[in-house]
Amino acid sequence: PPTNSQMEGNCVLRRGNCRAKGGSPGFKVAILGAAGGIGQPLVMLMKMNPLVSVLHLYDVVNTPGVTSDISHMDTGAVVRGFLGKEQLEDALTGMDLVIIPAGVPRKPGMTRDDLFNINAGIVKTLCEGISKCCPKAIVNLISNPVNSTVPIAAEVFKKAGIYDPRRLLGVTMLDVVRANTFVAEVLGLDPREVDVPVVGGHAGVTILPLLSQVKPPCSFTTKETEYLTSRIQNGGTEVVEAKAGAGSATLSMAYAAVKFADACLRGLRGDAGVVECAFVSSQVTELPFFATRVRLGRSGVEEIYPLGPLNEYERAGLEKAKKELAESIEKGISFARK
Ligand code: NAI
Repeated sequence: PPTNSQMEGNCVLRRGNCRAKGGSPGFKVAILGAAGGIGQPLVMLMKMNPLVSVLHLYDVVNTPGVTSDISHMDTGAVVRGFLGKEQLEDALTGMDLVIIPAGVPRKPGMTRDDLFNINAGIVKTLCEGISKCCPKAIVNLISNPVNSTVPIAAEVFKKAGIYDPRRLLGVTMLDVVRANTFVAEVLGLDPREVDVPVVGGHAGVTILPLLSQVKPPCSFTTKETEYLTSRIQNGGTEVVEAKAGAGSATLSMAYAAVKFADACLRGLRGDAGVVECAFVSSQVTELPFFATRVRLGRSGVEEIYPLGPLNEYERAGLEKAKKELAESIEKGISFARK
């Protein structure tokens, strides 16, 4: 495989290393699964993020091409590519934030849980690398089923003795992005003005939009509530079916991943009041993991917000969500402990 320096850029006449000028020093970010459907647009958007000074692209295929391509963008971040397991440690060393969209996506007719057998092993291996090479990094886990892969990651980190629940976040941002969009469509608002908390987990009925807490404050008819809840819960399947075998959401997911990663980096920088939904270790319910609004700071998750007042429809949804979530969490934990 090509060496790192070959993949870093082809300039053979350097007067010095390129350095991003001005502003804050920037953070080092690794993307694992960087050559995939989510990975590629995610890498492109992160290369445009002024908070990023170094961007490491890791995959088991095609990183040289993606790295070469992205490295021509005239933005500040220095890009380096890493290919295959033997380069995983170099990809991870010194990173502040690791984003993981590695693994297979759904095809029509599949649930996220059907991906478990392949993706569980991938996530385990990658998290072992993180334990060894950047144990203090914030981890944004995108690989599905998130409801199980986050518990797997936690077990791997515990085993390595480096687990800090504040630094492990399952990415449920796409559910929020979809909820904002679909609610704005119904209300006839600009989606940028709408904020819908989505709690629970990231699969089917575990995705629980709290329509009673939408900002700006508004109310929905029963028909609207049922339509919106169902569309938000099945947004991923809508894309999987439209793509007809060519994968699942990649572009909207890359957008959501960057929105979330940017919030994590602003938290790391020390910005006040950075609040997003994420699937994290939590005591909000009796389950060990749950997605709610969290405040992000220098240590990662610094505060977990309670669910707030739920209406009857949401309380019933919560019971369904918890039942499925409990099984998915247990499945992840027992896989990792095997
Ligand atoms: P994809 O198949 O297009 O890309 C996955 C990439 O991961 C490929 O480039 C592949 O080579 C790479 N990969 C496989 N094994 C690897 C390993 N051991 N180490 C590093 N890289 C490895 O899939 P896509 O569409 O990018 O989806 C990726 C994952 O994200 C899937 O599990 C999918 O279900 C999930 N996803 C999660 C969402 C969320 O909201 N959290 C939304 C959409 C997808």
